[in-house]
Amino acid sequence: MSDATGTNSILGDMRVLRHLLFHQVRGETHEERLESFYSGQARDYDSFRARMLHGRRELIAKVDLPPDGIWVDMGAGTGENVLLAGKRAESLREIHLVDLSSSLLAVASKRLNAAGIGTARIHLADATRFHAAAESVDLVSFSYSLTMIPDWFEAISVAERILKPGGRIAVADFYVSRKFTAEEHRQHRWLSRAFWTHWFAADNVFLSGDHAALLHRRFDVEVFEERLGKVPYLPLIRAPYYVLIGRKGRPPRPSMKCE
Ligand SMILES: C[S@@+](CC[C@H](N)C(=O)[O-])C[C@H]1O[C@@H](n2cnc3c(N)ncnc32)[C@H](O)[C@@H]1O
Repeated sequence: MSDATGTNSILGDMRVLRHLLFHQVRGETHEERLESFYSGQARDYDSFRARMLHGRRELIAKVDLPPDGIWVDMGAGTGENVLLAGKRAESLREIHLVDLSSSLLAVASKRLNAAGIGTARIHLADATRFHAAAESVDLVSFSYSLTMIPDWFEAISVAERILKPGGRIAVADFYVSRKFTAEEHRQHRWLSRAFWTHWFAADNVFLSGDHAALLHRRFDVEVFEERLGKVPYLPLIRAPYYVLIGRKGRPPRPSMKCE
């Protein structure tokens, strides 16, 4: 079994696991902590995460990428989402990859150049401060990044602000349900909620039932699927994740005053 760099992927997995289990994340700022976490695993990131970050392929396959449109991928990492879009990405006018890890963005830059996707621009920037003209963007995506963005509610606000009316937000991520969920949503048991919350928090990944709840409030949700996915080297358990596509509604018309 070989990965894209030709080295044995098991060795790559071992490097990632060593990093995940024993490397102490350091840094004064969020950006420094992210770089401390990712710099030692950037080259092996894709092979390991391909077996862990489920739903990305399906998310990108399902979402509309309008010709001549603008796509902002928040917490884009190594650019996997754009590569998954393949030929469909070529018809877009602009693609923006936003991330705070320079190591992962360096991998993204190499991969996109190799794939000849020249429309993609890379931004070493915080998703909560990313600027695009209000109501100019057709698609904002977050794959497995909302759980790593401390001010995730601001990241969702930014997405809402920059999306055009009718534009789409596309999210895939790990989560745990709220203690009491609406009937139509999955309810996770206490043990599952406690285990996954603590397991991921060790790597500064913060699972919550509130992400999907806020997305339902802010967007007209067209796709919401709650699933369980395999985790490399943990054969007996499955991590909960969801895939969501929502549409930004048109702003409400000013109501007529009744006098
Ligand atoms: C688990 S990775 C997912 C990367 C990629 N979306 C994927 O599917 O492979 C989470 C990403 O979010 C980025 N991230 C975390 N906080 C961020 C922030 N405030 N602004 C931008 N990116 C952020 C991390 O650097 C990392 O690349």
